[in-house]
Amino acid sequence: MMDLVIPDKTHDESRQGEALVLEPAAGKNNGRKLYIESYGCAMNFSDSEIVASILAEQGFETTADHNLADVIFINTCSIRENAEQRVRNRLKEFTVAKVKNPGLVVGVLGCMAERLKSKFLEEEKLVDVVVGPDAYRNLPELIDQVDSGQKAVNVLLSREETYADISPVRLNSNGINAFVSIMRGCDNMCSFCVVPFTRGRERSRDPKSIVAECTDLFNKGYREVTLLGQNVDSYKWKQPQPALSKGEGSDEPNAEEVLSFGEDLGESETTNFANLLELVALINPDLRVRFSTSHPKDITDDVLYTINQYENICNYIHLPVQSGNSRILEMMNRTYDREWYINRIDAIRRIIPDCAVSTDVITGFCSETDEEHHDTVTMMDYVKYDFAYMFKYSERPGTLAAKRYADDIPEEIKQKRLAQIVAKQQEYSFYRMQARIGKVEKVLIEGYSKKSDKDYCGRSDQNAMVIFPVGDNYKPGEYVNVLIEKTTSATLIGKVVE
Ligand code: 5AD
Ligand code: SF4
Repeated sequence: MMDLVIPDKTHDESRQGEALVLEPAAGKNNGRKLYIESYGCAMNFSDSEIVASILAEQGFETTADHNLADVIFINTCSIRENAEQRVRNRLKEFTVAKVKNPGLVVGVLGCMAERLKSKFLEEEKLVDVVVGPDAYRNLPELIDQVDSGQKAVNVLLSREETYADISPVRLNSNGINAFVSIMRGCDNMCSFCVVPFTRGRERSRDPKSIVAECTDLFNKGYREVTLLGQNVDSYKWKQPQPALSKGEGSDEPNAEEVLSFGEDLGESETTNFANLLELVALINPDLRVRFSTSHPKDITDDVLYTINQYENICNYIHLPVQSGNSRILEMMNRTYDREWYINRIDAIRRIIPDCAVSTDVITGFCSETDEEHHDTVTMMDYVKYDFAYMFKYSERPGTLAAKRYADDIPEEIKQKRLAQIVAKQQEYSFYRMQARIGKVEKVLIEGYSKKSDKDYCGRSDQNAMVIFPVGDNYKPGEYVNVLIEKTTSATLIGKVVE
């Protein structure tokens, strides 16, 4: 059985392998076509938009058909072995294109490129260029190098690169929701996880550039931004510049003024995640703000109070638990235990009434006993998550767990435990959905529902998908109040009310 993925936009199964299409920058067409497809998390999809933007500047036009491409890029994920397998299978499919067009450039980007480095060139003969997540600015030169007959590799990780000045192209977009990357890398060293090795050290992006990007999105008609980072709660920006002047002419603080205020306090002033959320929320009350991923060790009450304070910061927190057992959490190097996690859940319930919570769970981590697995089950009973991503443990080369512990839980047991929590989660998703019946949800309309053009779909504040009939008085990009009449385990169904 496959890992179960319940719908959420930050790691959307339906988007895996999606190709990105955009126009070349005005007047710069170089006559070459780029095909780029992406796998993995939202951060990777967001990176592909940066890559496309860098190459559009060079005059590349993109295509959704790899048979028409001069350059094929595949932006890869290493998080579990099956993610890598998927990419290798996909690469095989490009072999025919390469035979037909020997000048075709095939590039591997992202986490798998970073993990395997030049070994990739030996293992997959059709690959010409291997580029890690911090080296995308170098892509034009690397393509030149391949054009001149050499293979090219750049997998240098950076302590500074945040691509802050590159405005990502947002095509394949509905013009309503956008992902905005606020930091890169990860310093946590969870023992199962390959990310610190593939994405390098954690670094935060200048809040000014984040606010500018979100403001620009709002002005272009976008109504929802999702702030992305591996661990958004450890976002931290120290102002390197001396004071700027404050904005004038308004009684209400706005994002620009709050930023300048921080700078006025001098060099030691830092912007933390709670401050950043506030800055983005202040851009406009009609701009919804979401974020992912939170970390139980770092999510502060301050962040929770800020979420509660602003209507437009959505009441939805993705808080990966991984395991409900303290010994396993310690082996995972998560740096919290069961009690701490429960304390954070209690704080969410206390400070933000009506907050949806989702999670990630790994079953069958090294040496996990049936009793320890049962602690994960009872954690699910305690929290009654709205959504969950659930995975079997997959040993990743080079990680702390691979070095220290045997991957000793038999596949059938991993599978049985996974099936058990998947069934449990389905019950709780349905329970959470049922609890919305009779309630009125504020929904941002995203477009027609997948099944019928007689219905619109959109998300509630708590991130539930809501379906309701199309009407004359509202359209995508607008907010409506929907009275919920019935549900499935993944969707709320209702009608628009005043
Ligand atoms: N095996 C299984 N699941 C993993 N994840 C991360 N690394 C592994 C692994 N080696 C899961 C975690 C994480 C999510 C993004 O992927 O649950 O939160
Ligand atoms: Fe994203 Fe992690 Fe996969 Fe890299 S390994 S693409 S960071 S999910």
